[in-house]
Amino acid sequence: MTLRITVLGCGYLGTTHAAGMAELGFEVMGMDVDEDRVATLAAGRAPLYEPHLEPMLRTHVDSGRLRFTTSYEEVAQFGDVHFLCIGTPQKKGEYATDLRYQHGVVDGLSPHLDRPALVVGKSTVPVGTAAALRDRIQAAAPAARDVDLVWNPEFLREGFAVHDTLHPDRIVLGTDSEPAVETMREVYAKTLADGTPLIVTDYQTAELVKAAANAFLATKISFINAMSELCEAAGANVDELADALGHDERIGRKFLNAGIGFGGGCIPKDIRGLIARAGELGVDQAVSFLKEVDAINMRQRAHVVDLARAALGGSLLGTRVAVLGAAFKPDTDDIRDSPALNVAGQLHLQGAEVSVYDPRANDSARRIFPTLTYADSTLEACQGADLVLHLTMWQEFLDADPAEIGEVVNHRRVIDGRNALDADRWRAAGWTYRALGRP
Ligand code: UDX
Repeated sequence: MTLRITVLGCGYLGTTHAAGMAELGFEVMGMDVDEDRVATLAAGRAPLYEPHLEPMLRTHVDSGRLRFTTSYEEVAQFGDVHFLCIGTPQKKGEYATDLRYQHGVVDGLSPHLDRPALVVGKSTVPVGTAAALRDRIQAAAPAARDVDLVWNPEFLREGFAVHDTLHPDRIVLGTDSEPAVETMREVYAKTLADGTPLIVTDYQTAELVKAAANAFLATKISFINAMSELCEAAGANVDELADALGHDERIGRKFLNAGIGFGGGCIPKDIRGLIARAGELGVDQAVSFLKEVDAINMRQRAHVVDLARAALGGSLLGTRVAVLGAAFKPDTDDIRDSPALNVAGQLHLQGAEVSVYDPRANDSARRIFPTLTYADSTLEACQGADLVLHLTMWQEFLDADPAEIGEVVNHRRVIDGRNALDADRWRAAGWTYRALGRP
């Protein structure tokens, strides 16, 4: 009999995972406590912007292979394998991870688990969580020890979520149970047949792989941003430095793009969660460098604000600034901990009139920063601007014509917070072009 899959929590991860499991051929039921979200999903619409997600979702909703519910009971009756795709935000006012949503879902599901089932955790959690969740589930489930738990961290990138779900770099399973591994081999049969590496390990290692991967990526970005500060002081060029470093295979060129740094719903809170957990385990010194990684990252945002103020003659008061980009990176409408919005907000608070344009994230940005002005196009945002800031690397901004934008601004000054625009082209069109870590 083919396994039936459920996905608890239909955010970024859960929605993509549910649609991906249907794409792999399974009958899938997605569950979320948010009724509006479930209604949107059940109508075949994605509640967030992610390339290729909505068509895949609609195909499987229309075929009946993918359904959504708000009921734990229905999910428990339906599924053999239950994926936990619940958010693990940072606790308010501290670094530690807030597990209340994981606990809430596990406590909602477990009392209905009255036959053998496998629960699969996908979220990024502090090491030690999986073992505690397994105990919690088995204590509350009528099927008790016939319900097992596997930790299977998810590494998907926003903007590539569909691709990463269907073609992951690797599959990691934390478990000590051979039957659980067999079930997971069935779930990922197609992916494994494509040659995707499988790593079976213990709970702790599986939990730590995800936290360590994000910590490494954050460190790489902050490393190049630290070099960017150094380059700026020394009159060197950080982009050429990164190109030269990247040719060393041991280093690699990826994630060495200097700029206003990392943001999003994962990396910033995950490195802080790791710092907090290491402290609880008595090894805070081992990861104290991550505090510096975080500090370098936040400094880049402040640095761009300083550059903007300097470009405008020492004060932002009464100036008009166009901000291109609000999402934390291109190809998403996610503005969680977005460096672009953070900079836009600081400029506004220091007296600039800020006009923001993002191809997808205007609506989500407006909800948390209603005091900024939002434009419907690059040209509209740049109308009468004394300064243009490029803060999210959408292809649309890279393709934009600097001569055309030059016609509508008050002053042809641009700061490229992503070191990605074609500097020669902008300069040729009469712009004063400034990037980070470059002369
Ligand atoms: C990240 C991890 O990549 C993914 O594996 C994990 O599952 C979730 O967290 P995501 O948050 O989608 O994914 O973003 P990612 O593509 O990693 O970018 C993170 C941030 O770093 C973005 O703000 C991006 O603009 C910034 N970044 C990335 C840089 O500033 N420089 C770079 O060279 C690369």
